[in-house]
Amino acid sequence: MKSEEIRRRFLAFFEKRGHAVIPSASLVPENDSSVLFTTAGMQPLVPYLMGKKHPQGKRLVNIQKCVRTQDIEEVGDNTHDTFFEMLGNWSLGDYFKEDAIKWSFELLTSESEGFGLDPSRLYITVFEGDENAPRDVESFETWKKYMPENRIFFRGAKSNWWSVGESGPCGPDTEMFYDITKEGLGDMSKEEYIAADERQNVVEIWNDVFMEYEKKDGRVVGKLSQKNVDTGAGLERLTTALQNKDNIFDTDLFAPMMAALSSVSFPDVRSARIVTDHIRTSVFMIADGVTPSNTDRGYVLRRLLRRSYIYARKMGADIDILHAVANIVLEHPSYKGLYTFNVDTVKLVTEEIEKFKKTLEAGLKQIEKGEDPFTLFTSYGLPLEIIEEVVPVDRVKFQQQMEQHKQISSVAGENKFKN
Ligand code: ALA
Repeated sequence: MKSEEIRRRFLAFFEKRGHAVIPSASLVPENDSSVLFTTAGMQPLVPYLMGKKHPQGKRLVNIQKCVRTQDIEEVGDNTHDTFFEMLGNWSLGDYFKEDAIKWSFELLTSESEGFGLDPSRLYITVFEGDENAPRDVESFETWKKYMPENRIFFRGAKSNWWSVGESGPCGPDTEMFYDITKEGLGDMSKEEYIAADERQNVVEIWNDVFMEYEKKDGRVVGKLSQKNVDTGAGLERLTTALQNKDNIFDTDLFAPMMAALSSVSFPDVRSARIVTDHIRTSVFMIADGVTPSNTDRGYVLRRLLRRSYIYARKMGADIDILHAVANIVLEHPSYKGLYTFNVDTVKLVTEEIEKFKKTLEAGLKQIEKGEDPFTLFTSYGLPLEIIEEVVPVDRVKFQQQMEQHKQISSVAGENKFKN
């Protein structure tokens, strides 16, 4: 099933059940200066989860563009990416656990209306309870109508409680995992399931959050005026399961970009995945008005573009490959027509990387002449993560130099104020 068909089925399934389809909000949060990017589908909907009336009613369905960069070092493995799309259905004080779980199961497993996934490859987790909220017996009992009890595991707040930031709506969740191994893992104990999750043999494909609590300054303070459902299914992971792949980069969402990187001089899967991911994210950031700079969002974009060049260079490729990958994202059938891209995208990508390439090559020349790699930081402003990818670095020495540099800079700063 192509990713376009997955989107279509998700929206149609919930539309048929009374949900209004709403468009994705921008990656740049409109009314929230506390975060740089939209990181989850619920973020733009917070006022409505808190009780404000949504103009399109109490049942919504959408596909939200999201960026999460906290796991940037993990990109290159089977499941991490910095940009993803989250499919979500919403109840704003309308239906609750019973319907949400029933529809999740139906959509995942129905051959005709849904995705036809094999129920014997599904595993479920539910919240085990803590000082903030009781054990989620209602979700457990509901799941038992569809799933054998030994595939439903109770877990703690670390994995089965959802909130964003220090204040706002939150609540327990129930998560659905799918076995993506060839042979099939069958029944597992809770410990075996946790180990399979760590090995990425099972992947989380959907999360139903039951948002009925409120958090203030990091503490759960009580219940909201209404009970909400916030669900999130990562399109990339769902597509992995539905296309019988064991990693997101082999799905149709990434495959054309990955193919463009297969003809480089020194092919390397991890580097190709990083380049593909970072360029795709950059294109979507630029589409939402972000431009490279040294602060905030612009710096995140700059870092992604720089990293993409470093990993392309490692494979013996040059800027033209990055240019080609960006063009493939713009023309991708899963995005074209759905999202509007900035006409200057490729130009912005190319110009930024060209500037960086010049800086990097000048710095590397100095190192060849015997300069310490630390000069790449002091004179060229390159962070350690990038320096390490291009020259051997003694980390301990580098950290010491960093400390000294900080002290010198702060003394220099103090003197400036004295004068
Ligand atoms: N808000 C939930 C998540 O992001 C659905 O996983």
